[in-house]
Amino acid sequence: MKEIYDIAVVPGDGIGPEVSKAAVRVLTEALGSTAVLRFAEYPAGAELFQRTGDSFPAATFEACRSADAILHGAAGLPGVVHPDGTEAGLDFTLGLRSKLDLYANVRPIKLWPGVTSPLRGREVGDIDYVIVRENSEGLYAARGSGVFLRGEVAMDPLVQTRKGIERIVRFAFELARTRGGAPADGRRRVTCCDKANVLRSYALFREIFSEVARGYPDVEAEYALVDAMTLHLVRQPSHYDVIVTENMFGDIISDLGAATVGGMGMAPSAELGDGNGFFQASHGSAPDISGKGIANPYGTVLAGAMMLDWLGRRHGDRRLLDAARRIELAVHDALAQRNALSGDIGGTMGSADITGILCANLAPAASAA
Ligand code: IPM
Ligand code: MN
Repeated sequence: MKEIYDIAVVPGDGIGPEVSKAAVRVLTEALGSTAVLRFAEYPAGAELFQRTGDSFPAATFEACRSADAILHGAAGLPGVVHPDGTEAGLDFTLGLRSKLDLYANVRPIKLWPGVTSPLRGREVGDIDYVIVRENSEGLYAARGSGVFLRGEVAMDPLVQTRKGIERIVRFAFELARTRGGAPADGRRRVTCCDKANVLRSYALFREIFSEVARGYPDVEAEYALVDAMTLHLVRQPSHYDVIVTENMFGDIISDLGAATVGGMGMAPSAELGDGNGFFQASHGSAPDISGKGIANPYGTVLAGAMMLDWLGRRHGDRRLLDAARRIELAVHDALAQRNALSGDIGGTMGSADITGILCANLAPAASAA
């Protein structure tokens, strides 16, 4: 346990500064006057690139690397690109992933009360699973290093290694042990989502999944091909508890999952390595609504709660675990009782009002640390 935890905050572009500000406010409130978290802001992103030519300064990287955790708003602006056409705003997120080896991308998909799912008849409690996206290899590992021949031929290799697969699958099973099982039947379950019937790399993923699964007889192991998975996540989301999958598949099915629980604004994301943790909402920078005070702050606030939970477990700090739980309860109450809904989830409330309600809802901290 540490006295104080240093949090590097990177507000970024578009609505990034608004949602990170909301999260910092809720996190600070949740920990009371104890000043357990020390926040410091660092620049990165597309707007910075426009002004300075550098999207991800070395000083920001160093601050992120040495902080206890990293909280990000959002990054990227359409049209702000490198000479090769790739978006400058993505350099920060993608750079951190590879430089800090943030191999586990944890994306909870949870239907909160008061939020209407586009899936008919789904209520709070019916959808509550976690996508564990492999975040260091797979199809995206080739970014910037594939083959591009005279504008005629392009190739991006799909890389899967025993080491990479083993550690992400183990992570998924360990996570399942901390959860209460799938909503449908209460059983702890890890689903391997792949395309093992077509590609060798996915066959290796499945083979190693099976090997690791044998070490977790208390958790049910099952398989789903990714195309069928998109159908299952729409038809029977309650069956799922933890899903583990390759990088690009995880990218795709996590957006699908988010859509079933109210959209990207309700979807937090944690990117974890053995030494560092990076937390943000799954949504982008939404420049069309930035500065209007109407951005949905829930995704980033929930990412902040994941940050406290991760830090609390890592450092054995009950204060942080308790604060994480109280933030989740505050979100629950804001949605269930106060109808605190932003425009994207069917309401009319602005970010500041929602944030105020969340702060007011925070139950007092447990006295003993
Ligand atoms: C995500 C995003 C990123 C990804 C982009 C912004 C590079 O879509 O975190 O899901 O593709 O991983
Ligand atoms: Mn994505």
